[in-house]
Amino acid sequence: MALASGEFDVSIGDDGIEVWVTQMGTMANMNTAFIDRENRIVAVVDPFDGKGWLKALNAENLEPTHILLTHTHRDHTAGVKAIRKAHPEIEVWGHEESVSPSLFGRIIFTKTDFTHIWKHVPNEIITWECGNIQLSVTHSPGHSPGHVTFHGHDVYVAGDLLFTMRSGRVDLPGSDPAAQWRSLAKAKSILQNLPSDWRLIPGHRYDWIDGTTPDWVTIEQALKHNLSLNALDIETFDALPFNRFDDELSN
Ligand SMILES: [Fe+2]
Repeated sequence: MALASGEFDVSIGDDGIEVWVTQMGTMANMNTAFIDRENRIVAVVDPFDGKGWLKALNAENLEPTHILLTHTHRDHTAGVKAIRKAHPEIEVWGHEESVSPSLFGRIIFTKTDFTHIWKHVPNEIITWECGNIQLSVTHSPGHSPGHVTFHGHDVYVAGDLLFTMRSGRVDLPGSDPAAQWRSLAKAKSILQNLPSDWRLIPGHRYDWIDGTTPDWVTIEQALKHNLSLNALDIETFDALPFNRFDDELSN
């Protein structure tokens, strides 16, 4: 399927946890939320359009309680301010290393005041729990410092580590191609051990192998066709054409 901007897909797992997925903005940012209605927990990942999220949640008599950030590039934090303004008590979680590495870098990063930080080392997985929501948080730097991914409740939320067919660029301030390669290897091992029909939600909705732009692919599809996950060595990975470019893609 292809979601219109601000349109929400809602799925409910056997455990009762709802997963909302939407795409927002001119760069087709994919946003995900994990919702435990019983305990009134709403954790939104990388909100782009804060007002859009508030409106959609309000229509369901829900309020955001947590913001979980994969990284602090502007397009992944654009909605934080509006949500925080409406809910000053909200918890904002991110990795302590997810900050701008330089003055120049501040152009693409948002200075984000986390209320809670993760501190685990690269490629370590920790658990984040609230109510009946339980997510594995993997520290996956490379595209940006302190980047994390989330998996649980039938989805793998990749942020800008992975898109459907490729991976996040590594030519930005704070990028580290060698770290990205290690993070991709870790991601591959995680994905290989998850149910193959879980969805991989990319940070942006970019082209798939057939020229379409699906909102997500299954883990099975990603493992089979994603170019970065299938690169045989770091040299091959490093030579992939999308790792470095000077357009506006994949901030
Ligand atoms: Fe990014």
